[in-house]
Amino acid sequence: MAGIKQVYDISVSLLSDCFYIVDQTRPNEAEKLFHTLREEVERRGHIMFVFNGEHFPLGFIKGVINGATSEINYLYVDRPYKKSGIGTALLKEYEKYCIGKSVKNINLFRAPTAEARNFYTKNGYFSMGNSFLMTKNLTR
Ligand SMILES: CC(C)(COP(=O)(O)OP(=O)(O)OC[C@H]1O[C@@H](n2cnc3c(N)ncnc32)[C@H](O)[C@@H]1OP(=O)(O)O)[C@@H](O)C(=O)NCCC(=O)NCCS
Repeated sequence: MAGIKQVYDISVSLLSDCFYIVDQTRPNEAEKLFHTLREEVERRGHIMFVFNGEHFPLGFIKGVINGATSEINYLYVDRPYKKSGIGTALLKEYEKYCIGKSVKNINLFRAPTAEARNFYTKNGYFSMGNSFLMTKNLTR
């Protein structure tokens, strides 16, 4: 069904769809994801939401919660569907979930690309000190 859905099991088709989406931007990350996604979501408790189109996923977000802090390690939107609000919708859903789990801060696992930096800034994320990493305080 179309719309955002939390996923707990990674089917073969979801794995290959996610690989395809990430491979458009970061091929090395896609390769890594292909080997770790199932383990992280099904056995290590990572949180994942998928934005489903009519026929296939258009984007997804994945992160992990450690106490009062969460770390987003993947947020990718299929290239033809970028800039139509899917990234924001996924991020908001993830943040809502984190607030429900009493998370206070969300950090990005790696420095975003220049285009993603603008996207995260618009969504309330700030650079951490002098680093290229970004963070958001959910309690403000
Ligand atoms: C970054 C990304 C997730 C944004 O998703 P999206 O669905 O295109 O973003 P949205 O449509 O929700 O855009 C939200 C805001 O960010 C801005 N934005 C999004 N992409 C942008 C870009 N390439 N350049 C400048 N601003 C951008 C939009 O203009 C929009 O602002 P507006 O509301 O004032 O119009 C998506 O472009 C992507 O998958 N990029 C490649 C992967 C990546 O870098 N992921 C992050 C690393 S973990």
